[in-house]
Amino acid sequence: MSLEIAAVVLAAGRGLRVGGDLPKQYRQIRGEAVIRASLAAFGRHQEVARVQPVIQREDLPLFQSATAGLDLLPPVQGGATRQASVRAGLEALSGTAPDIVLVHDAARPFLSSGLISRAIAAAAETGAAIPALAVTDTIKRVEADGRVAETLDRTTLRSVQTPQAFRFSVLLEAHRRAAAAGHDDFTDDAALAEWAGLPVTVFAGEPGNTKLTSAEDFAQAEATELTALTDVRTGNGFDVHAFTDGDHVWLAGVRIPHSRGLLGHSDADAPLHALVDAILGALADGDIGQHFPPSDPQWRGAPSDVFLKFAAERVRSRGGRIAHLDLTIVCEEPRIGLHRDAMRARIAEIAGLSPERVGVKATTSERLGFTGRSEGIVAMATATIRLPWRS
Ligand code: CTP
Ligand code: MG
Repeated sequence: MSLEIAAVVLAAGRGLRVGGDLPKQYRQIRGEAVIRASLAAFGRHQEVARVQPVIQREDLPLFQSATAGLDLLPPVQGGATRQASVRAGLEALSGTAPDIVLVHDAARPFLSSGLISRAIAAAAETGAAIPALAVTDTIKRVEADGRVAETLDRTTLRSVQTPQAFRFSVLLEAHRRAAAAGHDDFTDDAALAEWAGLPVTVFAGEPGNTKLTSAEDFAQAEATELTALTDVRTGNGFDVHAFTDGDHVWLAGVRIPHSRGLLGHSDADAPLHALVDAILGALADGDIGQHFPPSDPQWRGAPSDVFLKFAAERVRSRGGRIAHLDLTIVCEEPRIGLHRDAMRARIAEIAGLSPERVGVKATTSERLGFTGRSEGIVAMATATIRLPWRS
């Protein structure tokens, strides 16, 4: 029987060391909110069935806008300390207890799916396992007055990360005992497990899985990514749909009342289809028809958001970023100008970008050709993406 795996993602801290108005988990990093990146890493992992966010209630509006579209359990209210926040997440899961729980700091958004897999495998084997890295600096213990007391043997030292993985029932029990004994400030779950007398083992962490703690960490993380994404690519996309009877059209994810409709297998949103092909083109990854065959009945009437989300996720899963999307719509009517900003906002939302990275333009074809006769609509798109350079 396969194990049921859940993740608790902690985002109830205030991020005091980073400073600023916004708690650090709601800031943007590498094009998305920190918390979104952390939650999505678990959400898209095959083996993880449920993702439990832990937040502060006052952050709920921030949380909702940062996590729109992710498949998550409703967030629960965290506590005054990290330990109390973990406990809140575990108690929320206890009704339908999973076999294994992964506890992760939202402030570590760069974890890979391989790390999650290793955490699950290690906990399945030993019951309690944490990701660790060898320490490369020489480490000293220093007295309060600044005097060096001793040099520690670094071969026995590890720096540890999250996700930390445990048998759920064992961790919950240890947390309840620790709270009852008046402990509230263990800084990680391994420390609490050690206190409870549970054996904890280590598995390989990853150097990129850093915790964003200071403002410099944010600057460093952006710089590191941009220097790695040197494979800059451009793709183009083109789509046509014919007008038919109807009372509205879907263009770039916006429903526009109109005296005609557009004919198509899905919602016939030609602009979104062109954008999808532009992104897939930049990835050299086929086209929309290859990934979503029109012969497949499940795409009948489908909202085209699904296709654009898929393409954007394809870029992210290659470790890349969409730098820019540009769209041209060719039609005599409906008039596009009024809807331009709504379209930019909607495209940005679906693709996970800021609207400043989305251009929407429209033109008529001077009454020439099939667009000029209002028989159909044309959409053309360009996508610029950045990928890590792999020859
Ligand atoms: N955390 C939490 N509840 C708390 C404190 C911390 O859920 N009461 C979470 C944070 O949101 C973060 C993780 O635990 O994802 C690790 O904590 P840390 O990096 O210390 O974050 P903050 O406490 O927010 O930052 P700071 O200590 O600088 O205020
Ligand atoms: Mg803290």
